Amino acid sequence: AGEWNLKKTVVMVGMMGAGKTAVGRALATRLGVPFLDSDAEIEAAATMSIAEIFERDGEAFFRDRETEVIDRLLENQRGILSTGGGAFLSERNRQIISQKGVSVWLDADLDLLWSRVKHKNTRPLLRTANPRETLKTLYEARVPSYRKADLAVRSLAEYSIDTMAGHVVEAL
Ligand code: S3P
Repeated sequence: AGEWNLKKTVVMVGMMGAGKTAVGRALATRLGVPFLDSDAEIEAAATMSIAEIFERDGEAFFRDRETEVIDRLLENQRGILSTGGGAFLSERNRQIISQKGVSVWLDADLDLLWSRVKHKNTRPLLRTANPRETLKTLYEARVPSYRKADLAVRSLAEYSIDTMAGHVVEAL
């Protein structure tokens, strides 16, 4: 226990449902460092939910806010930063993240991701006629980007949030 003196912010990346927020939060508690969440920051600044932002202003607008927020959070303090599932896809974001942070991909299989997101209606990208298929398409398109993360930690159904946080600490 005690406080870790992080040299860099640990940036959680990966698909929706991989556990970025839950594991990131547990990790921050374990290390005694601040927990930061780009989606939550965007929502607070806009006083709207992510779904509302997508609906009103569109995805491109959201992506611009996402880049600004990640840049600002990495600038201001060290801690654990959870990002949205699309954040690590842009070259620009990856550049910002690799300058000031160490990226950790939470690598979960499609079936596990689906089991975790299927009951939720908070993710605008999955509001399609066939969300299972949409998730698969996103997954396949995104894995090549996630592979560019500095570290990868497997996320399995039988791992608790604390077990996952422990695996991230071991990988750091
Ligand atoms: C997105 C994932 C969401 C949120 C937005 C877009 C994505 O975050 O940023 O709905 O493109 O995968 P989570 O990964 O926390 O669900």
